[in-house]
Amino acid sequence: MAIRIIRKDDDPVLRKTSKVVDKINDKVITLLDDMAETMYDAEGVGLAAPQIGILKRIVVVDIGEGLIELINPEIIHKEGSECDSEGCLSLPGVAEEVVRPAKVKVKALNRKGEEITIEGEGFLARAFCHEIDHLNGILFIDRAENK
Ligand code: NI
Repeated sequence: MAIRIIRKDDDPVLRKTSKVVDKINDKVITLLDDMAETMYDAEGVGLAAPQIGILKRIVVVDIGEGLIELINPEIIHKEGSECDSEGCLSLPGVAEEVVRPAKVKVKALNRKGEEITIEGEGFLARAFCHEIDHLNGILFIDRAENK
């Protein structure tokens, strides 16, 4: 495992659209491991592959309830809305109020290539939405209430 460099601020890679993972090989497994290690080292609650310069649709999240790994995640259901403060490891020192769904259901693959469906509420729903946005080149400041 290795800690990767987190891309920040105006790095153009943060604005690109990531590609669907069509094969879960050793490279993808290593990437998942490195992403988790990088996220924990930076004391973040989520990290998307483009944040370390890899344009693949892979996300890791841990809001303190255990590691969640999502390959090719898709939001299949949204409910309600909540406004709360948000930040990002790629935008150090920035915090903005962002409206997100109060509850989401996400479909993805796990590292074994099995399809999983996971529900998130509140802060977890926010983390899923924030990280999945990264896969589409969207940063939370784009959705900030007072931009
Ligand atoms: Ni982020």
